[in-house]
Amino acid sequence: MTRTLSPETIATVKATGPALQQHGVAITTAMYARLFQNEAVKDMFDAAAQESGEQPRRLAAAILGYAQNIDKLQNLTGAVGRMVARHVETGVKAEHYPLVAEALLPAIREVLGEEVATDAVLAAWGDAYWFLADLLIAAEQARYDELEAGEVAA
Ligand code: HEM
Repeated sequence: MTRTLSPETIATVKATGPALQQHGVAITTAMYARLFQNEAVKDMFDAAAQESGEQPRRLAAAILGYAQNIDKLQNLTGAVGRMVARHVETGVKAEHYPLVAEALLPAIREVLGEEVATDAVLAAWGDAYWFLADLLIAAEQARYDELEAGEVAA
C-alpha cells in the first residue's frame, strides 16, 4: 500500500516536531510504559537490549526525528537500512506496528496535553508514522522473503 502525505500533514508535523523533540524523553518514557504492557513485545526489547547493551530509546527518538524528514526521504536511506537490519534481527513484523502507533500517539497527547496535541496534530503524526512504517514493513518483508528463500546468508 502506498500512502501519500498531504501538504497540510507535512506542515503540521514539521511545526510540532520541535515540541515533540524537546519533550522526547518524557514521550519516550510514556510510550514504553504503554508498549511494554504487552509482555510479548517487552520480551523482544529485553532480548535486544541485552544484545546491544542499550535501552531501545532510539526507537521513539527515531520516530520523532525522522518524521521531520518526511518531505526529504532521500536523507533517510542509510538510517532506514539500519532499522530494517535491526528489526529483522529482532523479529519485528507488520503486526507489531499498530502496537507502537497505539503507544506513541497517546503518549504524545499525555505529555504535550490536548491543547498542543490536538486531534489534528495527532492525526498528522499518525499519518507520518504510518508513512515511515509502510516503508519499513515493505523493506523488512522483502528481507524476510530473501532469508526464507535462502538467497542470502542469515
Ligand atoms: C516507524 C516505526 C519504527 C521506527 C522509526 C523504528 C526505529 C528504530 C531504530 C532507529 C532502531 C535502532 C536501530 C539501530 O540499532 O541502529 C530500532 C530498533 C529496534 N526496534 Fe524499531 N522502529 C519502529 C518500529 C518498531 C516496531 C513496531 C517494533 C516492535 C514492537 C520495533 C522494535 C525494535 C527493536 C526490538 C529494536 C532493537 C532495539 C535494541 O537494539 O536494543 N520497532 N527501531
